[in-house]
Amino acid sequence: MAARRPLIVGNWKMNGLAASLAEATALADRARAQAPAAELGLCPPATLVAAMAAALKGTAVGVGGQDCHAKAAGAHTGDIAAEMLKDAGATYVITGHSERRADHGESSETVRAKAAAAHRAGLVAIVCVGETLAERDAGETLKIVTAQIRGSLPDGATAANTVVAYEPVWAIGTGRTPTTAQVAEVHAEIRRDLLARFDDGAGFRILYGGSVKPDNAAELMAVPDVDGALVGGASLKAADFWPIVQAKGLQ
Ligand code: 13P
Repeated sequence: MAARRPLIVGNWKMNGLAASLAEATALADRARAQAPAAELGLCPPATLVAAMAAALKGTAVGVGGQDCHAKAAGAHTGDIAAEMLKDAGATYVITGHSERRADHGESSETVRAKAAAAHRAGLVAIVCVGETLAERDAGETLKIVTAQIRGSLPDGATAANTVVAYEPVWAIGTGRTPTTAQVAEVHAEIRRDLLARFDDGAGFRILYGGSVKPDNAAELMAVPDVDGALVGGASLKAADFWPIVQAKGLQ
């Protein structure tokens, strides 16, 4: 099995106007100058996917959506199909982010259908899992994450079409991060689950997400089975995102 190529993805969430595309091109400029080892992606809001994909065409930075509908087309006002993201130039789509699970009541079953839709459209699904603080305090982290992994990954998932992102809900946007031992424990469990179910389970990339910043990225990215990062706030500015890219890219 070839070594897993690190992957660093920025999730802009509900942030970004047309003027923000300059940050994306600034990131691409840095990547052109310094050729990081890591694969790079940015997931802007849906309104910017096509424009960002056009602006980054031919660069080392791929573009992704933040969510998709399970169906390819139909009467679903306000929703976006995976095929539409692909058509707009996307390579990735995030599915099952905890903000979607919480704000829109998405179950793992829904997330699995969305990930399958991503595969149908030829996109890489970045499937998110993670426990709440109450679940961690109750000692249920591994049970919750395992159930989310089993429920959210479709049978057709492969190392090529699927990336897992472990994002503890209590670490997102809070400035709090798990200890490296806590991250290692969960990533090892996810790896075990992937190996048990998929022939190429060793090849899936498992990202860590939740308050990854320039000053903690190196420590987090050095944890075994951490194959990259899913970055929120610190991905909005190329100057903040670039040191995180380097933290993995230089290893
Ligand atoms: P922050 O990096 O802002 O904590 O967000 C993490 C996240 O949710 C990425 O999907």
